[in-house]
Amino acid sequence: MQENLAHLVDVLATRHVLPVEDYERLVVGRSPELAAYAAGRAVELRKAIYGTDVFVRGLIEISNHCKNDCRYCGVRRSNATARRYRLLPEVILSCVDEGYDLGFRTFVLQGGEDPWFTDDRLCDIVASIKAAHPDCAVTLSVGERGRASYQALFDAGADRYLLRHETATREHYELLHPAQMSFDERMRCLRDLRDIGFAVGCGFMVGSPYQTSAHLAADLKFVEEFRPQMCGIGPFVPHHATEYAQCPCGSVDLTCLLLSLLRLMQPNLLLPATTALGTLDPRGREKGILAGANVVMPNLSPTAVRGKYELYDNKICTGEESAQCRDCLGARMLSIGYQVVVDRGDPRQDQTA
Ligand code: 5AD
Ligand code: FES
Repeated sequence: MQENLAHLVDVLATRHVLPVEDYERLVVGRSPELAAYAAGRAVELRKAIYGTDVFVRGLIEISNHCKNDCRYCGVRRSNATARRYRLLPEVILSCVDEGYDLGFRTFVLQGGEDPWFTDDRLCDIVASIKAAHPDCAVTLSVGERGRASYQALFDAGADRYLLRHETATREHYELLHPAQMSFDERMRCLRDLRDIGFAVGCGFMVGSPYQTSAHLAADLKFVEEFRPQMCGIGPFVPHHATEYAQCPCGSVDLTCLLLSLLRLMQPNLLLPATTALGTLDPRGREKGILAGANVVMPNLSPTAVRGKYELYDNKICTGEESAQCRDCLGARMLSIGYQVVVDRGDPRQDQTA
C-alpha cells in the first residue's frame, strides 16, 4: 500500500474532510491493503459511537408504478414488461404491524414516483402508522415532490426521507436520466427536505454506466458538504429490460472502500449495507458492515409482490417471509460479531469526541 494513501485515510479519520483530488487519489490508488486499512479505521470510529449495534429498518415496497424513466432502473416507466402493483393503505399498515411485532421501530415506505400516492393518501398512511406506533420512525422514499408536499408529509409525522442524488456530477446525471429529469431539481428536493426538518438520506450507485473515479470523488465531496444523516450506496446491477442490460456490475470491493471512507468522513452517519451489495455477493452485507456500515434493511413487503419490485436483476430476499428475512439478517450479523437492536436507530453522538 502506498504510504501517502494510508496517510490520507488518517487525515480523513481525524479531520473528516479531504480535498476532492485526494478522494480521487484514494479511489484510483485503491488496493486490498488500502481497503483493509480504511476499514480498520472506520470500524474503530464507528465502535466508539455504535459499539457493535446494527440498526434495522423494515423496508416496505409500496408501489412499482413510476412516472420516471431513469435509464438504469427496472421499474422505469417505459419497461412494458414490468408487472405493476401498488399496496393498499391497509396492506401497508398490516406490514407495519407485523414488523412491529418482529422488533422493527423504523419503517421505510419506498416506491416509484406513483401519482396514486397523493399527499392526502400518503399523509393518512403516515399519520396512521404514527398513531398506532408512536415509538416508531417513519422514513419515506418516494422520489421527487414539491416543497409543499414534503412539508405536508413532515407535518403528518414522517421523520426521515431518502432520496439518492445518484451522482453529484451534472453531466453524469444527464447521461443516466432522460431529459425530463433535472439535476437541479434533484438538488432542490434534497435542500428542501433538509430545510423542512427531515433527517435526510442521499446516496449513489457505485459502478453505474459512464462513472469515473472523478465522479465518485465528487460524490464523496458532496456527502461531506451536504452532511446528510443517512447515505445509501450500493453497486450498480444491470436490469435485463434496460439499455444498460449488458453493462458490468459495480464492484463490491469498491463499494466497501467507499463505505469506509464515508464512515471516516462522518463517524455517526447511518450507512446501510444494501440489498444490492447482498445481491452481488452472498456475504456482501456482512462485508459492508465490516467495512463500516451500521444499518440493514430486511424486506417487510408482502411476499406476493416482492419479485415485482425489480430495480435490477437477481434481487435477493424475494421469496422469504418477513420473519425469515429478519432472522436471516440477524443471524448474519451475529456471525460477524454484531447484533441487530430493537431501536428507532437515530444517529448517536460520539461520546469520546
Ligand atoms: N442497480 C443498482 N441500484 C439501482 N437503483 C435503481 N436501479 C438500480 C440498479 N440497476 C437504486 C437507485 C435508486 C434506488 C431506489 O435504487 O439508486 O435511488
Ligand atoms: Fe432477506 Fe436473508 S436477509 S432473506
